[in-house]
Amino acid sequence: MEQITEHICRYKNYNFFVDMTTAEYIDSLQSFEIRDSDVFLVTYLKSGTIWTQEIIISICELSGGLPEYSNNSEQMPWLEYNNGQDYALRPSPRLLCSHLPPNLMPLALKDKKAKIIYVMRNPKDNMVSYFHFSREYNRFDTPESFDLFFEQYLSGNVGGSSWFDHIRAWLSVKDQYNILYLTYEDMILDLTGAVRKICSFLGKNLSEADIQKVVEKATFKNMKKDPKANYEFIPEIRGNFMRKGQIGDWKNFLTAEQSERVDRLLQEKLGDLSLNFIWE
Ligand code: A3P
Repeated sequence: MEQITEHICRYKNYNFFVDMTTAEYIDSLQSFEIRDSDVFLVTYLKSGTIWTQEIIISICELSGGLPEYSNNSEQMPWLEYNNGQDYALRPSPRLLCSHLPPNLMPLALKDKKAKIIYVMRNPKDNMVSYFHFSREYNRFDTPESFDLFFEQYLSGNVGGSSWFDHIRAWLSVKDQYNILYLTYEDMILDLTGAVRKICSFLGKNLSEADIQKVVEKATFKNMKKDPKANYEFIPEIRGNFMRKGQIGDWKNFLTAEQSERVDRLLQEKLGDLSLNFIWE
């Protein structure tokens, strides 16, 4: 891995966080053994990962149970940042998160049996969320100002590389995987609908009362109070993982000119995909 900033290292054209994984481990993921019952949640950072993670975990708990873990990060850990664990030893169903692009994911996922849920968020709110988180997490480069972070984000010089590349890469492989696409904004506007979609994709037949239990647990207010789900258990995070949880906070940070630049880039880089992001 080639270290390119204090906290970012680059490998296979993707920006990882320093000291959290190795090139050998990332290479080994190509032959990672996949079980039909595996569920992967894939996102670009700050797109609603821990929220969707909480929903998936609650659904699985209510429909047959899961082993006890001390928190959601233990229950559904990151594929690429394995902290020395051997995921082959985990019982089924294995729940895993990832921010990786498709070319670094286990090849056997292309058998289309294991499931992938991909969540995306509009890039303006995404970068604002990322900006704040970077100021509060010791493992990330601290941005000097929003304006500087804005440039780094648009050029992909951040951990996780370019948001645009991630979205294009994952949207262009929909025929190769067993994959459900969701957006953060749709989840905000209709959480019950999102929970139903996830249940149906996972093949879990929850009662109406259980669906409402999942929804209640996953509201911003309730999740923020839940020590297993709110990520306050990570000591290196100084602020809140769960910051605002809204659509449209970007209006408090981007200038009109910055907003237009994002619109132009979206058109230039992803215009052919006819994405319809909700901005407020
Ligand atoms: P904000 O910083 O805009 O508040 P990730 O988990 O991918 O890092 O994404 C974090 C973002 O998801 C944060 O956005 C966080 O507040 C938001 N989030 C987490 N749980 C949420 C929930 N239950 N409802 C709405 N947003 C949530």
